[in-house]
Amino acid sequence: MSKTSVSVRIENVTKVFKDVKGKADVIAVNNANFEIEPGELVTLLGPSGCGKTTTLRMIGGFELPTKGKIYLGNEDITYLPPNKRDTATVFQSYGLFPHMNVFDNVAYGLKLRKLPSKQITEKVMSTLDLVGLKNLAQRAPSKLSGGQQQRVALARSLIVEPSVLLLDEPLSNLDALLREQMRVEIKRIQKALGITTIYVTHDRVEAMSLSDRIIVMKNGFIRQIGSPNEIYED
Ligand SMILES: Nc1ncnc2c1ncn2[C@@H]1O[C@H](COP(=O)(O)OP(=O)(O)OP(=O)(O)O)[C@@H](O)[C@H]1O
Ligand SMILES: [Mg+2]
Repeated sequence: MSKTSVSVRIENVTKVFKDVKGKADVIAVNNANFEIEPGELVTLLGPSGCGKTTTLRMIGGFELPTKGKIYLGNEDITYLPPNKRDTATVFQSYGLFPHMNVFDNVAYGLKLRKLPSKQITEKVMSTLDLVGLKNLAQRAPSKLSGGQQQRVALARSLIVEPSVLLLDEPLSNLDALLREQMRVEIKRIQKALGITTIYVTHDRVEAMSLSDRIIVMKNGFIRQIGSPNEIYED
């Protein structure tokens, strides 16, 4: 079921946003370098505004670096559009299609790939089961709680079995118990499928419990890269 896992590497990546009012530029990411091994789950950890989402968006193709290069395996993907990269992103704001019910939101990627409808139904229902939403398949996203919407977004990304999964605070709207369950689920699915995963969070405990390695960011800089133990001891 799992495909060959792939590495992600960013080289000297800088992102400068122009301030609309013509004031000083914002350096969201400042000369970042890291490599994520195939099948690894790495978190980007740091306070609000430190550049986590910007880093993730550049890897997903939703933002172009001002400087530097991004590689998936040996392929330079720096300037490829999102749909030409083997990545799937769960955004901080979910990005569900409001006019489609839960089932169709999750089925979307498989329909694009033109899978037979019986197979689509099976995969959608088993993925919804995985995230605990099987009984809400016919609901509209606007009639779901924030946490339920988050789980739909997660299901929609997992179902296409990407080589690289990019998650931006995917559990921030869940209550503590569900959050813990989903964390375990994400890790289990991630390991089972061997998906290289980058997980953004500002929650230290979450980073510690999930990660193979943690990348600590502050003010656009990468401050530290290490295993949870190494980061903890600092
Ligand atoms: N489109 C944009 N235009 C101008 N500045 C931006 C833009 N997007 C982000 N920034 C700025 O870049 C910096 C990094 O933002 P980013 O969204 O990457 O932070 P973050 O670490 O994800 O924070 P949070 O935890 O609050 O989501 C911030 O100072 C932010 O204001
Ligand atoms: Mg963010």
